[in-house]
Amino acid sequence: MNSLFAGHDRGGTSLLLRGAPGVGKTALLDAAAVRAADVGMRVLRASGVEFEAEMNFSALHQMLWPLRRHADRLAGHHRDVLDRIFGLAPGLSPDPLAASTAVLALLGEVTVERPLLMIADDMSWIDRASATALGFVVRRISDDPVVFLAAARTGTEGLWRQLRLPVHEIGPLAAQSAAELLDARWPGLTPTVRRRLLAEAAGNPLVLRELPAALSSRQRSGRDPLPALLPLFGRLEAVFASAVERLPAPTRTVLLVLRCTPPPTWPRFGRPRRIPRASTTSPWRSRRTW
Ligand SMILES: Nc1ncnc2c1ncn2[C@@H]1O[C@H](COP(=O)(O)OP(=O)(O)O)[C@@H](O)[C@H]1O
Ligand SMILES: [Mg+2]
Repeated sequence: MNSLFAGHDRGGTSLLLRGAPGVGKTALLDAAAVRAADVGMRVLRASGVEFEAEMNFSALHQMLWPLRRHADRLAGHHRDVLDRIFGLAPGLSPDPLAASTAVLALLGEVTVERPLLMIADDMSWIDRASATALGFVVRRISDDPVVFLAAARTGTEGLWRQLRLPVHEIGPLAAQSAAELLDARWPGLTPTVRRRLLAEAAGNPLVLRELPAALSSRQRSGRDPLPALLPLFGRLEAVFASAVERLPAPTRTVLLVLRCTPPPTWPRFGRPRRIPRASTTSPWRSRRTW
């Protein structure tokens, strides 16, 4: 973040934050917006959402709406195009080049006043028309005081991938930070429950914050046992579902079969006497060691 803002008033720069759902991408974008406002930058923001992904210029509309009055200072043909993007004038959706050059002209006009931070969250849901125009702009900001900061889930596709933005991978929290976050949000967990939650969350801040809410207060305090599979709901489901979606089909099938096997039957097999060695000849050889 420091290096991103170091030369913000000189030349343009861009960065894509990539990571699993719930890992903290949006939280980092929020922090960047606060930092940018503190150093006097203008902040424009849009976020891709699934139900607007097919709606031309919806993300651009969201991002540029605060600038609509500045469009009055532009040449008539740019103003006309922007008015159609904003829905302020009738007419067909503008063509990609006309839209992109109008957006570039608008940004050129406002960056004379102060540097700009453009934030595009959940890039994979941003509509194609907006993504094209944003891509056009990002490729032309090298001499302008503009920072373009985007975020996308690992493994998602979209036109934005062709932009080849510099990527910063957002990984899980370190063990110490994860424990601090859990303790701050959920003080008073018994050690067994706390250990289990830290293991299941694997450093994901969303899981650390929300998973304990899915347990009863008796489970959190250790008076009732935890279920073999902890319940998921809302955004938590997305965290785990997206990890499963990226697995190969045979692995998903094995997981599904395991999920359908009632956990109480598992202990019947007992523990292996020693860890089976991987077989190079037959997948069944290792069974003899059990
Ligand atoms: N480093 C962190 N420390 C504490 N809470 C965090 C941290 N990063 C994210 N969170 C919290 O975790 C939740 C998920 O973060 P979010 O930024 O929405 O994830 P993403 O955008 O990657 O899906 C939010 O409630 C957020 O406030
Ligand atoms: Mg997010």
